Amino acid sequence: MMLKISTEDQQWVDTVWEKIKIKMNFVSKKTAGKIPYTTVNGTYDDKFLEDPAWWTNGFWSGILWLMYSETGNEQYKTLAEEVETRMDEVLYGLDGSFEDLYHDVGFMWMLLSVANYRLTCNPKSRVRGLIAANHLAARFNINGGFITAWNSKEREGWSIIDTLMNLPLLYWATEETGYTRYRQIAQAHADKTAENVVRDDGSVTHIVEYDCEKGEVIKTLGGQGYGEGSSWSRGQSWAIYGFVLSYIHTLNQSYLDIAKRVAHYFIACISDTYIPRIDFRSPEEPVYIDTTAGAIAACGMIEISKHVPEHEKNLYLRSAINILKALEKEQCDWTVKKDSILQNGSESYSSGRHKSIIYGDYYFIEAILKLKGSGISFW
Ligand code: GLY
Repeated sequence: MMLKISTEDQQWVDTVWEKIKIKMNFVSKKTAGKIPYTTVNGTYDDKFLEDPAWWTNGFWSGILWLMYSETGNEQYKTLAEEVETRMDEVLYGLDGSFEDLYHDVGFMWMLLSVANYRLTCNPKSRVRGLIAANHLAARFNINGGFITAWNSKEREGWSIIDTLMNLPLLYWATEETGYTRYRQIAQAHADKTAENVVRDDGSVTHIVEYDCEKGEVIKTLGGQGYGEGSSWSRGQSWAIYGFVLSYIHTLNQSYLDIAKRVAHYFIACISDTYIPRIDFRSPEEPVYIDTTAGAIAACGMIEISKHVPEHEKNLYLRSAINILKALEKEQCDWTVKKDSILQNGSESYSSGRHKSIIYGDYYFIEAILKLKGSGISFW
């Protein structure tokens, strides 16, 4: 679907894409053999060594597949395949970390394997994607109608907004196999999330705890945000992008309407700087920001703009471009002193603030490619 953007914005996108290509050409070679999460003194770490089942271990592969899809440079494909094979140890449980996997297998194997399969039709990648989809489907609580987020018996009833971004793995499994059960689970979870996680004003809570037998809400928790009742900005972003993706895969209008409602709230909350605070309902001072929330929300808003009537498109597209321009101007590093592009991502309100985080770069590059008109979507 074509986006209508101005010549000035198009020139800006082309310039940013040139910078991404130069930086990634250098950084990808330097990072060969690693699966990075963050930088240490400017250099990417190898998160796999510390935690092979860590939820972000697909994003580096995702960046490499984005670069391969747009440049055709085989170097990126080779590096991405190495990462995918390295992660087999986790997927097949060979190192014992299989039981450490949780609902984020969608984030992981969509970008490790489904991306590969979509681009190259590699049958081994298809199998990996389906194994991950079966793992995710098995986390569905039938009485409750939700997918359990993390592991441990105490948290079996916890469902979180982030899970929405993992649902495309289930939609893909149905599209790939023809079995409707994967999509049914995804839709049941999306419906339950719409009912209990999204508030009337368009803000979302991070965590809802359900009774595992009856499916009733026990309580909500602030999770990675400021506290209970607050509004963690990356959670808002997961909701915007997650619901519009559920709309794209199901054409259920209510998902698009919710994505729009959360986007309106997000747009209102960033109208001063276009760079999100970590939590939109937290004290004014100190000012803590999360650039990753901006990049993810921009991806979601660009997708919304493709699916709303003509006269609505500009609100979402303009907002996405404003966010990305602010991020590029103030928060991107284009030197070779730092391996990461986007700076000042934040893990949560209470820890891991203002650091580079791999998914910030992934979603920033994805957003720029969307604006560039690349038709590729791994989700
Ligand atoms: N999915 C966890 C996070 O967004 O930090």
